[in-house]
Amino acid sequence: MRLAWITDPHFNFCALDAWDGLVESLRRGGADAVLISGDISEGEDVAFQLKRLADALAKPIYFVLGNHDFYQGGIAATRTAAAGLGREHPLLHYLTALPTITLSDQVALIGEDGWGDATVGDFERSPVRLADFLAIDDFRDARTADWKAILQEQGRLSAERLRLKLAAAMATHSRVLVVTHVPPFREACWYEGRTTDDFWAPFFVCGQVGDVLREAVERHPACRLSVLCGHTHNAGVANLGERLSVFTAGAKYGEPDVAGWIEIAPGAILLEW
Ligand SMILES: [Fe+2]
Ligand SMILES: [Fe+2]
Repeated sequence: MRLAWITDPHFNFCALDAWDGLVESLRRGGADAVLISGDISEGEDVAFQLKRLADALAKPIYFVLGNHDFYQGGIAATRTAAAGLGREHPLLHYLTALPTITLSDQVALIGEDGWGDATVGDFERSPVRLADFLAIDDFRDARTADWKAILQEQGRLSAERLRLKLAAAMATHSRVLVVTHVPPFREACWYEGRTTDDFWAPFFVCGQVGDVLREAVERHPACRLSVLCGHTHNAGVANLGERLSVFTAGAKYGEPDVAGWIEIAPGAILLEW
């Protein structure tokens, strides 16, 4: 089985010839399925783009949502709509709302959106303010003083969902592929070859998901985790011990591309990127 991995395609910034080029790469590369680690588009265009891609490829698409996918809406309602997409279009699978997917006897796939959860770095002194705070109802409708608590709550909910899925997947498989949008560790949060500083980290690391991943690896010594994420639009690999690797893929607005290929071989995941 050969999976193509895409992150941060931001299809709303994408001209038709760039979209055609991506579809051609996916076909030529022999994708049996596609993984998308979020920032697919914005608002209602997310569902349109996912259906269009699924129709063009006629292959399953496993996705999580990134912060941009929640623009022009609220967090809970956007997730509910994404979870319902699978009923409209059988090739679309929103990993955040799904239990473990078995790819082979040894290899499982799970996913969770994640959120820059203000638990790493220095939120109070950071001058960074994302467009998220104006474009997503939950922040726009809240007091500025409550933003940190909302970010932390989103991280907590992501971590809770992922904890349950990790326990189930790691009890029955020796390799687990985890798709998420936000890098779960400072060490995996790349920008131009360096990792994040204290001002960007609160918005670009999901620390509570990172804690859950570390705990899960400790608890299941026979299992290895490979995490695929995006959000920073800058690439890098972070190995947090021998059994936990995080691959962060780069992205460019208007130039969606395949970030990597994953071969599911007996007992192994081979990642080319
Ligand atoms: Fe992005
Ligand atoms: Fe993002």
